[in-house]
Amino acid sequence: MSVTVKIPLSELQPGMIVVRFDKSGVTYPYYGRPFPDKKLCQYLERNGIEYAFVRHDRAPSRGDLPQTEGAEKEYPRKYLKSIAEEAPTDRLPTINEIQASVTLHSKAKEVTTQLLTDARLGKMVDSTAVKTIVSELVEQCIASPEAFVNISRLKDYDQYTFTHSVNVSVLSIAIGRRLGSSVQELNSLGFAGLLHDVGKMKVPEGILNKPGKLTDAEFEIMKGHPSLGYDYLREERGISQEILFAVKYHHEKADGSGYPSGLTDKEIPRFAKIIAIADVYDAITSERVYHKGMVPSDALKLIFSWSGKHFNESLVKFFINIMGIYPVGTLVLLDTNELAIILEPHKDEPMRPNILIVSNTNMEPAPPHFFDLTKRNVASGAPYKSIISSLDPRDFSIDTNRLIEQYIKG
Ligand SMILES: [Fe+2]
Repeated sequence: MSVTVKIPLSELQPGMIVVRFDKSGVTYPYYGRPFPDKKLCQYLERNGIEYAFVRHDRAPSRGDLPQTEGAEKEYPRKYLKSIAEEAPTDRLPTINEIQASVTLHSKAKEVTTQLLTDARLGKMVDSTAVKTIVSELVEQCIASPEAFVNISRLKDYDQYTFTHSVNVSVLSIAIGRRLGSSVQELNSLGFAGLLHDVGKMKVPEGILNKPGKLTDAEFEIMKGHPSLGYDYLREERGISQEILFAVKYHHEKADGSGYPSGLTDKEIPRFAKIIAIADVYDAITSERVYHKGMVPSDALKLIFSWSGKHFNESLVKFFINIMGIYPVGTLVLLDTNELAIILEPHKDEPMRPNILIVSNTNMEPAPPHFFDLTKRNVASGAPYKSIISSLDPRDFSIDTNRLIEQYIKG
């Protein structure tokens, strides 16, 4: 049985479920969902909130109660500490979780290959197969979100279209989860993400796989793919309107400059906005015939620069928050001239994640060791080390995944 506890705003911790506040009228989109970030407290405080009402599945036990008279003030703090400790927090995925996610990713790619090949051959979409694999992705996302979002880093140069479809599905589900979407919504998002480009299977292969720049006429044909996908999926019963619209409008842009309908931010369906970000992020971080894949941190900077123009501003912030300014696995250069790999984002100081230092100060390979970038000199308050920039691991022949795995295995 759940209980509701009134707590001062300062005691509110990420993961706690807020039911209401002591004052109404504040815009707060996470009622009934995990409180996402301590930084929100400042905003709530500015809006005159002093107390939050938090739901918890466990009533205070005898042990939580104050043992001595006059200890009343300690009672809620002690109990709340236990709630906060039980709350889900971001953590490094275990190697088993990573392996399970990698296996699922390749299974999803197989299913998607079949689905898109069927579409190319004019067969109806096997929506049961889509729903089955998407529900597995959603389950995995809920069970181990940290491992899940990282599988979108798996790329496949030769089978871009299929891998890209899986990655867009994965990233869309991850965004949806962070927004607190229901399981049913996550399944719809995953479905739409997996088949967002199914209309491309109706575009002549000569245009679709053309290595160079498309001519204006070819681009016009290419721009037809969202509507072609919509028409194709509409023929199969049991595919919801929100999935159909997500497919149809995934190339619309917030400023109205997208296609096919030139919708603006307010008019674009929510799922289409989410898929648009996932789509572009995966595309620009993937290696293609005609462009080098960008490193994740540069891609995020670019996505951020398009915030409000191409993409919904709040969704971009959520997305960057999910991926981290320096996503796990990014190779960075420190001001000490050492190379390091990002291990774990830091909640309060996104520019100062936990890292794995993998070189000496001459950038020569050295035994990897852990370092917390928030560490500061006690006297001066200055950080010991800082990140200068992110680097492309290929330029240094560093296999970041292997080094992280080695570190996790100990
Ligand atoms: Fe597309």
